[in-house]
Amino acid sequence: MQENVIKHTFDVTVEQRSQMKNQKPLLLWFTGLSGSGKSTIANAVEKALFEKGVHTYSLDGDNVRLGLNSNLSFSAEDRTENIRRIGEVANLMIDAGLVVIASFVSPYEKDRAAVKNIVGASKFVEVFVNTSVEECEKRDVKGLYKKARAGEIKNFTGINAPYEAPTNADIEIDTINTTVVEAVSIIIKNIENKIAY
Ligand code: PPS
Repeated sequence: MQENVIKHTFDVTVEQRSQMKNQKPLLLWFTGLSGSGKSTIANAVEKALFEKGVHTYSLDGDNVRLGLNSNLSFSAEDRTENIRRIGEVANLMIDAGLVVIASFVSPYEKDRAAVKNIVGASKFVEVFVNTSVEECEKRDVKGLYKKARAGEIKNFTGINAPYEAPTNADIEIDTINTTVVEAVSIIIKNIENKIAY
């Protein structure tokens, strides 16, 4: 808690900023195991929104951990702090009127719930990219599962750290039976009305 810090209100409001852009702000939150396809689908969704003239910004696990959160590990506590900071950053971007696309493993239910609480439930859409550990390990695009199995990475989600799958996600994508194009169409249909004036 901060003492002696008082919130300042500016004259230009989030409503004015978003009306100027003719879009309502939103946080599209992708959660799923490493290598589940979060970034691939998020990237395709951003491209589709961009083509429709929607002003977006993408926040992604690896990228944020190379900068803002470079001091955080993959312990449970640091993952919580990672997601908290991202929630706050996303909230600033929402205040700027943007449609924010966030792709993080975010393995803990309470951390995802905290982000929903920060931005407000009406501005939060959770997308569960549901790909099993077995499938992610088979794909192993970055070779991280192999390293984790060899004991070279500790706290690797799905191998030796937990993943609490969402039980009530707004959208669930089964990447075995859904193509990226289909996933984009499902997601755009879900958010179209939420971001339109
Ligand atoms: S978390 O759990 O939300 O704090 O993780 P996140 O910030 O999304 O970072 C996930 C990316 O970091 C790489 N990586 C790991 N993931 C999970 N567990 C461990 N121990 C780990 N170490 C490194 C990995 O490339 C993740 O990227 P994605 O895009 O999810 O595959």
